[in-house]
Amino acid sequence: MRLEGKVVIVTGAARGLGRAYALRLAREGAKIVVADVLDGSETVEAIKKIDGEAIAIKTDVTGEESTREMAAKSIEAFDRIDVLVNNAAIFATIAKRPFWEIPAEEWDAVMAVNLKGPFLCAKAVYPQMKAQGKGKIINVASGTYFKGVPNFLHYVVSKGGNIAITRSMAREVGDAGICVNTIAPGYTETDYLHEHPQDPPQVTKMIIASQCIKRPSTPDDLTGTIVFLASDDSDFISGQTILVDGGSAFN
Ligand SMILES: NC(=O)c1ccc[n+]([C@@H]2O[C@H](COP(=O)([O-])OP(=O)(O)OC[C@H]3O[C@@H](n4cnc5c(N)ncnc54)[C@H](O)[C@@H]3O)[C@@H](O)[C@H]2O)c1
Repeated sequence: MRLEGKVVIVTGAARGLGRAYALRLAREGAKIVVADVLDGSETVEAIKKIDGEAIAIKTDVTGEESTREMAAKSIEAFDRIDVLVNNAAIFATIAKRPFWEIPAEEWDAVMAVNLKGPFLCAKAVYPQMKAQGKGKIINVASGTYFKGVPNFLHYVVSKGGNIAITRSMAREVGDAGICVNTIAPGYTETDYLHEHPQDPPQVTKMIIASQCIKRPSTPDDLTGTIVFLASDDSDFISGQTILVDGGSAFN
């Protein structure tokens, strides 16, 4: 149990990769806050089934009042906040299309969730982490930024921005004992993506062919890196990005 007694907020944990992170972190002994605009009760129930502790807090990461409430309710429930995983994003619901066809409103919505969201969530938890003298903020980028994947411009730009947030924020909070790092996953099928594929099967085949390790990525391939970045084992690592994509892109 590498995270015994730690309190971890995972945004966007009602489904997909966020849920996989929440479950694995709970298995390592962490108390989990599922912060999502969607109902997080299924994730909470799944954690309780493995004898873990979790609560769901309805959170819109684009709203400052909502993110402040997320932090306040987490402290109310569990007395502390040790880790924030900035996982919530507009991703699986985006239709891929050339940039000249992306509606300006869709660009704004992606930036609001994927970029402003991590900023507001970090801002909300910072005072508590500072008071504790320690904290971990884990941002979630994507291999698409390193590859310059086409037909996804707003998303790719937002994920590059997550790495920029990590680098600048890490320098501002190091003296407070807070580490800020990024995980950049490669394409990883979730239940949601299985039911609502964004790409035809040949694209998945091309991604696998580009990897050093030639098999599809699963959510379980990512969770170990999340645990490492949340744990004391990574206390001297900050401002970094770890690509977890079977060796498809290099950092
Ligand atoms: N699955 C992949 O292949 C892959 C690859 C690289 C990076 N990522 C990143 O991993 C993360 C999770 O991916 P996923 O496949 O589970 O995505 P997903 O789209 O299935 O899930 C996103 C989650 O974020 C939540 N969310 C959306 N807007 C929100 C808001 N305003 N406030 C709070 N929560 C909100 C959604 O409700 C959902 O639960 C994202 O940051 C994504 O960019 C995914």
